[in-house]
Amino acid sequence: MIDLVIEDDGVVVGEVGLQINRDRRIAEVGFWVTQAARRTGVGSRLLFAAESLASPVGDVDLFAITLAENVAAIALLEARRWPEVETTTAHKRAFRWRPSRPHT
Ligand SMILES: CC(C)(COP(=O)(O)OP(=O)(O)OC[C@H]1O[C@@H](n2cnc3c(N)ncnc32)[C@H](O)[C@@H]1OP(=O)(O)O)[C@@H](O)C(=O)NCCC(=O)NCCS
Repeated sequence: MIDLVIEDDGVVVGEVGLQINRDRRIAEVGFWVTQAARRTGVGSRLLFAAESLASPVGDVDLFAITLAENVAAIALLEARRWPEVETTTAHKRAFRWRPSRPHT
């Protein structure tokens, strides 16, 4: 598990956790931002940090699952252009981000 935090004046205002699966191909991402810091770009910075961690590795996809009513999380994932993938449950939505891989 990798945890990254963003601080404002020494106070944590947001956190993203990456839970890497056993074969190291997918990391499930969870994130939150304090109420007061929302809509100030902290969530975007957290996802950017997660993407930046995964990018050099090259073959680790990031995966986020949210409740279907989680408007904020879905809007954030869409704003960062994470492609949506199908889920087996109607009350959840899933997004999978792939690092761009070099063409061989
Ligand atoms: C989801 C969450 C992390 C968003 O964090 P944030 O810091 O507010 O996000 P940002 O400020 O970076 O928002 C970036 C963009 O996402 C979209 N967005 C974020 N929150 C939104 C909301 N409540 N409604 C509509 N769009 C929203 C907007 O496009 C926004 O850009 P804009 O502010 O210029 O319009 C935050 O609301 C949160 O912590 N929620 C509770 C925890 C949670 O649901 N975690 C996800 C579990 S999978």
